[in-house]
Amino acid sequence: MAKMGTSSRVAAAIVVVLGFVLSLAVVCNGGKTSSFVRKVEKTVDMPLDSDVFKVPPGYNAPQQVHITQGDQLGKAVIVSWVTVEEPGSNTVLYWSAYSKKQKSEGKVTTYKFYNYTSGYIHHTTIRNLKFNTKYYYVVGIGHTERQFWFITPPEVGPDVPYTFGLIGDLGQSFDSNKTLTHYELNPQKGQAVLFVGDLCYADTHPNHDNVWWDTWGRFTERSVAYQPWIWTVGNHEIDFAPELGETKPFKPYTHRYHVPYKASGSTAPFWYSIKRASAYIIVLSSYSAYGKYTPQYFWLEQELRKVNRSETPWLIVLMHAPWYNSYNFHYLEGETMRVMYEPWFVKYKVDVVFAGHVHAYERSERMSNVAYNIVNGICIPVKDQSAPVYITIGDGGNTEVLATNMTEPQPAYSAYREASFGHATFDIKNRTHAYYGWHRNQDGYAVTADSMWFFNRYYHPVDDSTSAQ
Ligand SMILES: *[C@@H]1O[C@H](CO)[C@@H](O)[C@H](O)[C@H]1NC(C)=O
Ligand SMILES: *[C@@H]1O[C@H](CO)[C@@H](O)[C@H](O)[C@H]1NC(C)=O
Ligand SMILES: *[C@@H]1O[C@H](CO)[C@@H](O)[C@H](O)[C@H]1NC(C)=O
Ligand SMILES: *[C@@H]1O[C@H](CO)[C@@H](O)[C@H](O)[C@H]1NC(C)=O
Ligand SMILES: *[C@@H]1O[C@H](CO)[C@@H](O)[C@H](O)[C@H]1NC(C)=O
Ligand SMILES: [Fe+2]
Repeated sequence: MAKMGTSSRVAAAIVVVLGFVLSLAVVCNGGKTSSFVRKVEKTVDMPLDSDVFKVPPGYNAPQQVHITQGDQLGKAVIVSWVTVEEPGSNTVLYWSAYSKKQKSEGKVTTYKFYNYTSGYIHHTTIRNLKFNTKYYYVVGIGHTERQFWFITPPEVGPDVPYTFGLIGDLGQSFDSNKTLTHYELNPQKGQAVLFVGDLCYADTHPNHDNVWWDTWGRFTERSVAYQPWIWTVGNHEIDFAPELGETKPFKPYTHRYHVPYKASGSTAPFWYSIKRASAYIIVLSSYSAYGKYTPQYFWLEQELRKVNRSETPWLIVLMHAPWYNSYNFHYLEGETMRVMYEPWFVKYKVDVVFAGHVHAYERSERMSNVAYNIVNGICIPVKDQSAPVYITIGDGGNTEVLATNMTEPQPAYSAYREASFGHATFDIKNRTHAYYGWHRNQDGYAVTADSMWFFNRYYHPVDDSTSAQ
């Protein structure tokens, strides 16, 4: 074959891609596979001396400051930070324009991982906050003080608008920094992040070098010190390393990131729920036992019964490994959990399920696959208006490769898929409508590459599918 010039090769590639998209439309009734052309070379971690990893100046200065919701309703906040030179104070000083300065005391912990010793990790819960109020807070009392702020959510209720950001599998590459920047500058203005697992990828470094947990804490502080990130565990939080003598799963994660699991009757920090504004958010663990008779199973069974849609119309589930994934990466890894829990999600009319793990983006139709019982042979997902939309948003930008290899043809349950880095927002307007938008990092901050108006499954269960059929 004669050698082609670069431009003619690109033109040929475009023709091939177009032809492929057209042929897909003919041979199956799947949704859209994006032909967006992005850079596909492997992304790299930001170097340790990067601006985003800078240690704040001053003796024993608090670093890696992060907050998350601290109770079921949003009237408490867990404030966490790390000091390096000495334990220092566990006190958080906080106030609003309408209240005098108050103090809350917490606890300090440390851990070792192989030959790494952590700094002093502080966790302090501040309670009895007023809804919908801006609070200032100070940590590092006695040495170097640092001040931050957050806004509490509105009181839980059916028509309370609220905007969630969605980020997964973030890591700390140059692309991760782009994703975070795009989230921060998105005019949709997320008020809290639903984080679907795989935080820092320290475990991809020799000896799971936990220094990368610290750098990630400093990198993300610029967002998570000011708005809560709601945590889900991913496989990169397990840190199970018997070759290093480290056999307690989730050790670094559980020391560094606290969640309000006891408030929802959970017995472990890997599955729990919160209410925030008009949403009920259930967080599940793909890496804890979920079969029948397990603690997570019993908890979820009770939990779904507790959801009162008159109070929180929007029922959202977070997990790490997706149930509906048409990429060849991690294909069917979520299948055993789907088999256990999907009938409940349909019965209780979950609005949307967000997952990560696959380093790409995908949105499903409302589909379910619950009829199958081995003898009946009915094992193909069918359109189901009681089923959630499944969204894979594991495209935060970590250094493992972008998942580009897709199953072909695109299955009917897949509405849109694209192998690009990005984030999304879920913007609840009222009890019936929410606007969802996915943003790829290459576009302007306001551009949505994929979007959908969600109709609430309880109050407005009409077909909200985006496909033409
Ligand atoms: C931990 O051990 C590795 C080699 O096994 C070494 O390169 C590294 O410097 C050690 N780190 C510390 C903090 O001792
Ligand atoms: C990360 O992004 C921020 C905000 O856009 C920028 O100021 C900073 O220089 C970036 N750092 C790196 C290492 O890319
Ligand atoms: C559900 O929430 C509504 C609105 O807050 C309340 O009036 C009702 O009593 C709740 N139902 C139950 C069973 O708790
Ligand atoms: C894509 O994945 C399939 C299934 O795992 C594999 O057979 C195929 O070789 C992969 N293609 C590429 C280009 O890697
Ligand atoms: C709910 O929000 C949607 C979208 O903004 C709007 O069209 C609809 O009128 C709202 N419903 C009510 C009852 O306000
Ligand atoms: Fe993962």
